[in-house]
Amino acid sequence: MSNAISRREFNKRAAAVAAAFGLSNFDIPELFPTVHAASEPVKWAMIGTGTRALDLLRPLSTNTGGQCVALCDIYPPNLERAAKTIGGSPTHYDDYRKVLERKDVEAVMIVTPLDRHAFMTLDALSAGKHVFCEKTMVFKEQEIAALREAVAAHPKQVFQVGLQRRYSEIYHMGMQMIRRGALGRVTHCYAHWNRNSDWRRPVADAKLERLINWRMYKEYSGGLMAELGSHQMDIAGWAFQADPRSVIGTGGIDYWKDGREVYDNVSVIFEYPEGQKAVFTSMLNNQHYEFGEHLCGDGGTMELTLAGPSGTGTFWVEPKAKATAAAGKAKEQWWAGATVSASATQKGMPIFPDEIGEDMPFMDRERAFGRRWLAQRGWYEVTEPKNPVGTQFEHFFMCIREGKHPLSDINVGASDAEAVVYANQAMDENRRVFWPKYRDQKG
Ligand SMILES: NC(=O)c1ccc[n+]([C@@H]2O[C@H](COP(=O)([O-])OP(=O)(O)OC[C@H]3O[C@@H](n4cnc5c(N)ncnc54)[C@H](O)[C@@H]3O)[C@@H](O)[C@H]2O)c1
Repeated sequence: MSNAISRREFNKRAAAVAAAFGLSNFDIPELFPTVHAASEPVKWAMIGTGTRALDLLRPLSTNTGGQCVALCDIYPPNLERAAKTIGGSPTHYDDYRKVLERKDVEAVMIVTPLDRHAFMTLDALSAGKHVFCEKTMVFKEQEIAALREAVAAHPKQVFQVGLQRRYSEIYHMGMQMIRRGALGRVTHCYAHWNRNSDWRRPVADAKLERLINWRMYKEYSGGLMAELGSHQMDIAGWAFQADPRSVIGTGGIDYWKDGREVYDNVSVIFEYPEGQKAVFTSMLNNQHYEFGEHLCGDGGTMELTLAGPSGTGTFWVEPKAKATAAAGKAKEQWWAGATVSASATQKGMPIFPDEIGEDMPFMDRERAFGRRWLAQRGWYEVTEPKNPVGTQFEHFFMCIREGKHPLSDINVGASDAEAVVYANQAMDENRRVFWPKYRDQKG
């Protein structure tokens, strides 16, 4: 076939790219911890058992590192649905404080609307519990400081935020490629998250509107920035290894004029200390480009996404820029280096979650070669070998049992929450918002 490449040819190309960037060996952090048979399962409770809870309860139902002993929700249908999903015989509560009073509950998962995260987490830490808190960690500036203080005051308790990309193998490989220089100087992150839906949930009784559709109201919700953008600004910060300096943005209720208070159309630009930019756009009337992050540097581009049933990562090598005016050329020739010709555009290389080692059993190597070859031709979608949503709980339980520190810790959660809070301020107040340490310098 004309566009087929032989394994030898593919390996030659892949090896050349890998060698050029020092990418032959990947040492992903221990994302899949060993279960220590001697450890008792962590006894945990979930507070808030709505839609997200179901996504969490499915992998939790087979996780032997923990045991669900209690579920809590103020809306009985959700509580019942969650109980069916997790199985076993957890006790049901409608008051989270009663859960916290139980001495046998070691850890709580907080999966309630955003405005409830802060006070529930503070109470849980005071009650001596380990806490997993869904993203966005909190949505008010003063709550970020309060949580930082509380987590610091309880150093033996694990506090983890539900930013699951921190537990994705593909994202870890992507970040490792960045650290090793594959993208060169990383200057931009373009993130988008689009949907074709009004984002509403059906409400049988009008009295329940604000409980069920809390996302629509500013009293409880940070809108698209908190619900979707928070995941992606976490990736920008991880890639740049910095917090932004400032943010500008514009948001509107432009399509779904149905009484909602949060924007359905958001465009935001974050500026980082060395001039890097992270752009986040989100709309609710077109899902053609569903979601993902493009990270761009002078040496390459990477697209990472957990979209669809599988996560994917793709890497493109950036052709070298040609000489420019700065290199001493005549001024009228400056444009020669300003763009890169279409013919130089590279076909993206999939980022693989597995490596092919010489010491692998023969059949495993054959399978790995097959996967690479098919993926390279676009016939096969590289899948996450493990769902990061489940992996985050393996980590959570491991951190509790072994006294380890979580990957998505208070600092990750706080940086992410700041990005959400300040971006919403920028849009609401139509101004450029600076991060606290840059406020005096803004002039
Ligand atoms: N990490 C992710 O990818 C991801 C995805 C979706 C949602 N989330 C987050 O999960 C959280 C919950 O979102 P959701 O979509 O499940 O919302 P939801 O409305 O479906 O569920 C929230 C549940 O909390 C319950 N609740 C409200 N107040 C309560 C209280 N005082 N005590 C006990 N229960 C209470 C509600 O009755 C509801 O069942 C949000 O913070 C959201 O941002 C994260």
